Amino acid sequence: MADLHVALDRSAGRLGVQLAAGLRAAVREGRLPGGTRLPSTRSLADDLAVSRGVVVAAYEQLVAEGFLIARTGDGTRVAEGGGHAEPGEAGRERQPEPEFDLRPGVPDLSAFPRARWAAAYKRALETMAHSDFAYPDPAGVPVLRAELAGYLRRVRAADVTPDRIVVTGGVAHGLSVVVRHVRAPLAVEDPTSDRQIPLLAGTGVPIVRVPVDGEGIDVAALAASGARSVLLTPAHQFPTGGVLSPARRAALVAWARRTGGTLIEDDYDAEFRYDRDPVGCVQGLVPDLTVLLGSVSKALAPGMRLGWLVAPAPLAAAVAAHRALTDLGGPVVEQHALAHFLASGAHDRQLRRMRRIYRARRDALVTALAAHLPHAQVGGVSAGLHLYVRITDLPDDAVARAARHGVAVLCQGPGLTLGYGALPERHIPTAVARLAQALT
Ligand SMILES: Cc1ncc(COP(=O)(O)O)c(C=O)c1O
Repeated sequence: MADLHVALDRSAGRLGVQLAAGLRAAVREGRLPGGTRLPSTRSLADDLAVSRGVVVAAYEQLVAEGFLIARTGDGTRVAEGGGHAEPGEAGRERQPEPEFDLRPGVPDLSAFPRARWAAAYKRALETMAHSDFAYPDPAGVPVLRAELAGYLRRVRAADVTPDRIVVTGGVAHGLSVVVRHVRAPLAVEDPTSDRQIPLLAGTGVPIVRVPVDGEGIDVAALAASGARSVLLTPAHQFPTGGVLSPARRAALVAWARRTGGTLIEDDYDAEFRYDRDPVGCVQGLVPDLTVLLGSVSKALAPGMRLGWLVAPAPLAAAVAAHRALTDLGGPVVEQHALAHFLASGAHDRQLRRMRRIYRARRDALVTALAAHLPHAQVGGVSAGLHLYVRITDLPDDAVARAARHGVAVLCQGPGLTLGYGALPERHIPTAVARLAQALT
C-alpha cells in the first residue's frame, strides 16, 4: 500500500481537483509506479483530513483517464504505463499538444468526407440482405473484394482477382498476419517506419535491416543478409521518399525467384503522387512472388481501420484461414459501405481533392525550408504526406529543441521526417521558421 504525500492548499479551493492533479503528477513522474496499490479512499481521506467524497471523486477521475485501475476485491492500483497512453507509448511522459505538428503518418482528419461516407453507409444499410449480417467470409465480403480488385487494377496496375484479396484492418493488420506465413528471416528497409518494428518483433519473426540508398533497397546487401522475405515501400520509401528504381526492381525480382523469397509491398501512400502518375506496384509485375498491402488510412483516415492485401492464391487462403481461426473476419457494414464508396466514385473524388491540398502543402514546406534552412536537403519525390530532409550537424536533441519552440518533428538518422498531411498550408511558414530557430 503506497504512502502518499499530496500537498493540498486549503485556501485554493477544489480539493478534489488538487488531489487528482497531485496523483496524476506522481504517476507521470514515476513516484507512483505501475501496479502500486493506493490507500483506500477512507484511509486517504483520514490522512488528508478531507471528506471521503473528495478522494472518491479524484480516484474516479483518474480511473476514467486511465491512470488508475479499480477492481473489486483488489482496491485501486496505478495502471501500467500510466495515463491515456497510446499503443507503444506506455511509460513515456505525455507531451503537451504541439502548436505545429509536423510528425508524419496522419492525413488531414478535418477533410474526412463525412457526408459522402454517411451516404455510402446509409446505402449499405438499405441494400444489405438479412443474410449479409451473418459472420462474413473471413477474406472479406465479396462485393468489396470485387470493387477493390477493379480499383487496384486501375489505380495501382495490380494483377489481381477478387479471390486473391483479403480485406484487413489496415496495412499493420495485414502485415502482422502475412509475416507469420512467409519464410524467415524478414528483411526491413533501413531506415524504415519505426512504428512497424515492435509490431513485427511481436510476431517473433527474426528481422534483419538492409540499407536503402537513392535507388531503394540495396539488393546485394539483401542477398548477403540471408533474408527469405522482405518488406518494402517501393512507391515512396518511408521515410526517405525515394522510388525503387527499375534496375532494383529487376534485381529484387531475380532475388525472389532465386531464393523462393517473398516481396511484401507496403503501398501505404501510393495514391499521392504530385508530379506524375504513380509508378505501378511491384505486385503487378510479379504477382506470384509479391504480397501487396494497402489501406484507406492515408486516403481517408487511419481510424477507419480498413485495408486489404493481395497475395498469391495459396497465401491468400492461408491468411483467410488464419482470420477464420483468430477473429472471424472484419465488420460487414463498413465493408459494404466502402464498396459503395468506391463504386460511386466518391473515393476518386476525395483523392483528387486531397492531392491538390497535399501538393500545395508540400510545395509550401519545400519553399519554407529553402527560406529558413537553406542548407537542408529535401530528398525523395513529390509524393505522399511527408518529406525527408537531411540537415548537416543536426543536433542530437533536435526533437526536444523543436518541441520547446512548439513544433513536433520526427528525427530519423541524419535528418527529419516531416509530415504535412495535417498542417494547414497557412501555418507552414511559421512552423518552419520556428523549427529553424530551434535548430540554430
Ligand atoms: C510506412 C507505413 N506503413 C504502414 C503504416 C500503417 O498503416 P495502416 O494504418 O494501414 O495500418 C504506417 C503508419 O503510419 C506507415 O508509416
